[in-house]
Amino acid sequence: MGNNDIKSRAVFASRFAAVATTVGSAVGLGNIWRFPYEAGVHGGGAFMLCYMAFVFLIGVPVLYSEFFVGHITGSNVFGAYRKLAPRGKWQLTGYLGIAASLMILSFYSVVAGWTIEYCVASAFGQLDFSDGVHGQFESLTMGWRPVMWTVIFLFCNTLILLRGVTKGIERVSNIMMPLLFVLLVSFCIHSFSMPGFGEGISFLFKPDFSAITPGVLLGAMGQAFFSLSLGLGCMMTYASYFKKGTNIGKTAMSTALLDSAVAVLAGIIIFPAVFSFGISPQAGPTLVFEVLPAIFTQLPGGYVWSTLFFLLLFLASITSTVSMSEISISYFCDEKGMSRRRATLLSSAIALAGGLLCALSFGPLSDFTIGGMTIFNLLDYVASNVFLPIGGFVVSVFTGWVVNRSYLRQHFSVYGSKSPLLMNVMLLFLRWVCPVAIFLIFLNSIGLLNI
Ligand code: PHE
Repeated sequence: MGNNDIKSRAVFASRFAAVATTVGSAVGLGNIWRFPYEAGVHGGGAFMLCYMAFVFLIGVPVLYSEFFVGHITGSNVFGAYRKLAPRGKWQLTGYLGIAASLMILSFYSVVAGWTIEYCVASAFGQLDFSDGVHGQFESLTMGWRPVMWTVIFLFCNTLILLRGVTKGIERVSNIMMPLLFVLLVSFCIHSFSMPGFGEGISFLFKPDFSAITPGVLLGAMGQAFFSLSLGLGCMMTYASYFKKGTNIGKTAMSTALLDSAVAVLAGIIIFPAVFSFGISPQAGPTLVFEVLPAIFTQLPGGYVWSTLFFLLLFLASITSTVSMSEISISYFCDEKGMSRRRATLLSSAIALAGGLLCALSFGPLSDFTIGGMTIFNLLDYVASNVFLPIGGFVVSVFTGWVVNRSYLRQHFSVYGSKSPLLMNVMLLFLRWVCPVAIFLIFLNSIGLLNI
């Protein structure tokens, strides 16, 4: 695996496996932890509307182009750009992808560490609300404790990676993702009985158009990229493992539909509870970890639900971290000639260093801020809202303008749809809509443009 010859690369067994694995990468803390917290901070309905628009109008075309580039070249980001445009400098965006993936891996591991801690605390019946919901979170994540869980999480991640691509990831995601979905639907049904149901639902689904500020647009765009694992070459690398003949157009659409469905379900679970328990929707990164246990303690057999849920969330996180780790690993293997084992250990070590700083952001380093943000928030903000959209901008411009048009059309009719109209719409999006929208949102958010 990881070398440039498509014949010797690992290949996912079927289309189901391709969808299951890309959904495994896409569905994770981004949907269940990050979406509700970002929606809460950015006014609910307004954010939801922008997020949905970004997922389908920008996310799907960009996902298609990542799939396209990865699938036809059978390479990682560097090899892929080099094969399609040998003289260009396109592959340089690969470095941005590596930086973004390691930054995300750092803060993501901290939150994934919380999920293990909550899972263990639930299993031993230790979730205790005598100090109120917030006190519970603080007592579990005080001082150096999150550091230990971050290390444990990264250790699990490294173990899975050392076992290779197809076996480990495929098996885990094929079984776990459907189960997580069923559990989310059950909690969603339970939400209907909450006293704050109406208020929560209207917060999430009733857009206040005047609340759509540059910050909301940027946040929603970042969330769409983050949630679909876009812009860092992750989906490109995965598509290089797709079996020949996989319909990448359909795979892109199914991934976006399932991924946003999980985010919406998470929203329907969280916000009614937020209003029922009188928690502020603007609580930030800790929101979901304060709200969920409060829901579980109300359910009959709450500890069982809670243990199962955090266990599945942990597994969903690990299928995502495995995919983001693959970016730097395949770079170290393919470009630097390292063995897979060394490459895995090196990228885990970098993530560990970043992870420790992020974990301490909630304790001893909470007063250390840059531009008003803790290290945790800064890495999240820069990677998601800046690096990923830049990566998406580049891949859509590359596919729309640089790749030979008849080649693209031919590929689309085999791996997308035979309809010339759909192809033209896709081209319009890749050439104009996606790059222009991303560019304008950037200008807008740095204040150079006032929409
Ligand atoms: N999409 C993943 C999630 O929602 C996070 C992720 C981002 C994974 C970037 C890979 C690359 O949790």
